[in-house]
Amino acid sequence: MLLWRKRRSLSKKILILSGSPKKNGNTAALVEWFTEGAASRGAQVELIHTAFLRFQFPGCTSCRACQKEAAYECVIEDDANLALGKMAAAEVIVMATPLYFFSASAQLKVIIDRMFSLYKWDNAAGTMKTVLKGKALVLLASAYEDVGMDALEKPFVLTADYTGMKFRSLLIPNAGESGEIRTKPGVREKTRALAEELA
Ligand SMILES: Cc1cc2nc3c(=O)[nH]c(=O)nc-3n(C[C@H](O)[C@H](O)[C@H](O)COP(=O)(O)O)c2cc1C
Repeated sequence: MLLWRKRRSLSKKILILSGSPKKNGNTAALVEWFTEGAASRGAQVELIHTAFLRFQFPGCTSCRACQKEAAYECVIEDDANLALGKMAAAEVIVMATPLYFFSASAQLKVIIDRMFSLYKWDNAAGTMKTVLKGKALVLLASAYEDVGMDALEKPFVLTADYTGMKFRSLLIPNAGESGEIRTKPGVREKTRALAEELA
C-alpha cells in the first residue's frame, strides 16, 4: 500500500488546454500524440477543450477583484475558473492551438487572459507572486503555412520567462488542412518524445 502511494505521488500531473474548435483536426492529433507519450511514462493527463467551455465573459474583465483576495482564483464563476484551478494544480501545462492570424486561437486566449487571477502583484512593493512558478509550459501548434510561428511563440516565451516557468514548444508549420498533420512523417514521434521527456 505504501509503495503504491509512493508510485502514485510520483506521476506528473499534466493539464492540456486545447484551443482548437476541431475535434479531429491537427491540434487534436498533436494532443492525442502528446497524451500517448505522457501516459506511456505514467503521467496523469487531463484535457480541456477551451472551445467548448462556457464563459460569462469572452475574456478578462479587468475588474482586478482577484488582486484583493488571498486565493489565486478568478471571481467570475464559470468554466474558465475551473480550468484555472486545474492549471494551479498541474505540474505541466500544455497549450495546444492552431495558428489563427499569426496568433493563438481566441478560444485559448480567453483562458490565457483569465490567468491574471493566478498572479498577485504588489505594485507598491514592486513584487509579483504566482502559483504558476516552477511549472512547465508547453506550446503545441500547427499552421497551414510556414509564416508566423515565431510571432505565435513570442508571448508564450515571454510569459514563461516572466512567470518562472520552463518553456518547451513543438511548432508544426505546413501542416495543411485539419487532419492533414497525420500524413506528415515524424510529427507523431516528435510529439510523443517531447511528452515522454516532460512526464
Ligand atoms: C480562423 C483561421 C485563421 C487561420 N490563420 C492562419 C494563419 O495565420 N497562418 C497559417 O499558416 N494558417 C492559418 N490557419 C490554418 C490553421 O492554422 C491550420 O490549418 C491548423 O493546422 C488547423 O488546426 P486544427 O485542425 O486544429 O483546427 C487559419 C485557420 C483558421 C480557421
